[in-house]
Amino acid sequence: MPLVCVCSPKGGVGKTTVSANLAYALARSGSKVLVIDFDVQNALRLHFGVPISDSRGYVAEATTAVDWSQFILKADANLFVLPYGEVEEQQRLAFEYALSHDAHFLQRGLNTVLNYPGLVIIADFPPGPAPALKAIKPIADMHITVMLADTASLSLLPQMENHKFLGSAMNDKLGEYYVVNQNDMRRNLSRDVSQFFEQRLGDRLLGTIHRDECVPEANASQRSIIEFSPVSAAAFDIELISKKVSAIIGITVGDGEIYSAPHHGVQ
Ligand SMILES: Nc1ncnc2c1ncn2[C@@H]1O[C@H](COP(=O)(O)OP(=O)(O)OP(=O)(O)O)[C@@H](O)[C@H]1O
Ligand SMILES: [Mg+2]
Repeated sequence: MPLVCVCSPKGGVGKTTVSANLAYALARSGSKVLVIDFDVQNALRLHFGVPISDSRGYVAEATTAVDWSQFILKADANLFVLPYGEVEEQQRLAFEYALSHDAHFLQRGLNTVLNYPGLVIIADFPPGPAPALKAIKPIADMHITVMLADTASLSLLPQMENHKFLGSAMNDKLGEYYVVNQNDMRRNLSRDVSQFFEQRLGDRLLGTIHRDECVPEANASQRSIIEFSPVSAAAFDIELISKKVSAIIGITVGDGEIYSAPHHGVQ
């Protein structure tokens, strides 16, 4: 059940894009993948063909439902999505209160999926130190922080490395990794910042994703960048990152098993 968290202190850097496309890439290479949305924007599902008008999700009933796997939607043969859903303000506050005050709330709701053999879980978070990001720490296997190739992201790196983001190390298991997104090789600043990240982060940098118009276009057509534009620079970058993630979480690329254990939700 490797659980990979995609987060960032910054908004609009590509967390949801990376979560969705990483999920597609891992599913394509044979793994069974579940993506979970922890952001009230409820945008992750839009990468998986769920219509805008579809308000289903787990958060509205999270405090009363014992098992959140009943809210999982199937996106593809081995690709599943657990949308945040449309919620009232009171429901969001109740969810966040439970996340902050009940140490086992998240683990209980996700218990079935966490114990599903071989399922890779990718969780997408809102920007900053959200209650869900704090609550998931004890069960997360790996964190990926998405940054932009700009000075604003660069200026936050010392805070990230000194664990000022959550107050302590985000991940005590497989570790904390980085992705630099929207690198524009034509711009000196973007190139310089990317090079700095490479030197500073070494193996902790999973990769750099080119700024590429195919990315928003793929999103608009509700397809992964790898399907939408397989020869684009961004598709190549995502593929490379997914291979590194596979190696870190210990799944074999191109040799995923399809599990058939009876289960409501992921099947
Ligand atoms: N490599 C890229 N090239 C071009 N556009 C990109 C790239 N990555 C992401 N984008 C675009 O940037 C915008 C923000 O991306 P996304 O929604 O994934 O960011 P986010 O970090 O999840 O935002 P939020 O903090 O609001 O959750 C989207 O319009 C997306 O299509
Ligand atoms: Mg997002």
